[in-house]
Amino acid sequence: MKAEKLYNVTGQVAFVTGAASGLGRAMAEVLAENGACVTMADIDGDALEALVRTMRQAGSAVEAAVLDVADTDALRGGIDAVVKRHGRLDAVFANAGISSGPGFATAAGRISGQIDHTSLATWRKVLDVNLTSVFVTMQAAAAHMKAQRSGRIIVTSSIAGLRAETFVGYPYAATKAALINLVRQAARELAPYNVLVNAIAPGVFFTNIAGGRLRDPAVQEEFRRIVPLGRIADAAEIKGLALFLASPASSYVTGTVIPIDGGVTAG
Ligand SMILES: NC(=O)c1ccc[n+]([C@@H]2O[C@H](COP(=O)([O-])OP(=O)(O)OC[C@H]3O[C@@H](n4cnc5c(N)ncnc54)[C@H](O)[C@@H]3O)[C@@H](O)[C@H]2O)c1
Repeated sequence: MKAEKLYNVTGQVAFVTGAASGLGRAMAEVLAENGACVTMADIDGDALEALVRTMRQAGSAVEAAVLDVADTDALRGGIDAVVKRHGRLDAVFANAGISSGPGFATAAGRISGQIDHTSLATWRKVLDVNLTSVFVTMQAAAAHMKAQRSGRIIVTSSIAGLRAETFVGYPYAATKAALINLVRQAARELAPYNVLVNAIAPGVFFTNIAGGRLRDPAVQEEFRRIVPLGRIADAAEIKGLALFLASPASSYVTGTVIPIDGGVTAG
């Protein structure tokens, strides 16, 4: 089969959260660049609307949904509105997420995210944004996808959900691990409806997460040493995997977690 057919997402209706920046932006871009109609959701209205304007000028079929994924009614409303406008929903990327601050150690020493320094307020906030919002995204998407007997749900976890990771905070690590089993659970239930549910587990990518901490030269140097490929990834390097998981190429892939990490979890 020709690649253009295998990876064909032309005419798909997609919804991506956290789409104004970083990985979500790259996911929305690759779908739109390949002919999908993408609703891009984000809390940062200025960045989102500027990006959507630019993408439309370049010929992409994109729409903005300014919303906070922690506002579950707004999130559900955003997904339902896509179905109302387009009559279907083919791919949903539950991607929005926030850092919970630094972890408890780097190679250079201890930092501020020790267990006794982690507030319950941060714990609850990160659970709302990183975990509850993904459950609600799945729930809202599944209602439509079950009825149409097809669909793809792709969740952004992290390699910090696969193993202990000293660089990230406790709430972040806990939510990213929880997402992996949420994906497995939903994949089992939704498989008879031909709704495929998968997680991606990125390693270290240049984005704006954690206030752009990855742009600090000392942090970069540390990751160069840790990552077998010897560098931090560009956000655009998520595009191939995102396209794969939304396209016919992954028609038999469900319930998996796919690391994209330059070899970090290889051991
Ligand atoms: N960058 C990495 O190295 C890395 C590694 C592993 C996993 N991830 C995950 O990738 C996902 C995307 O993060 P990123 O690195 O692209 O960061 P980013 O900060 O560049 O982008 C995140 C986007 O989500 C939006 N957002 C944040 N909170 C929101 C909310 N409550 N409602 C709606 N939108 C909200 C932000 O405005 C931003 O546009 C996150 O789930 C993150 O945990 C990132």
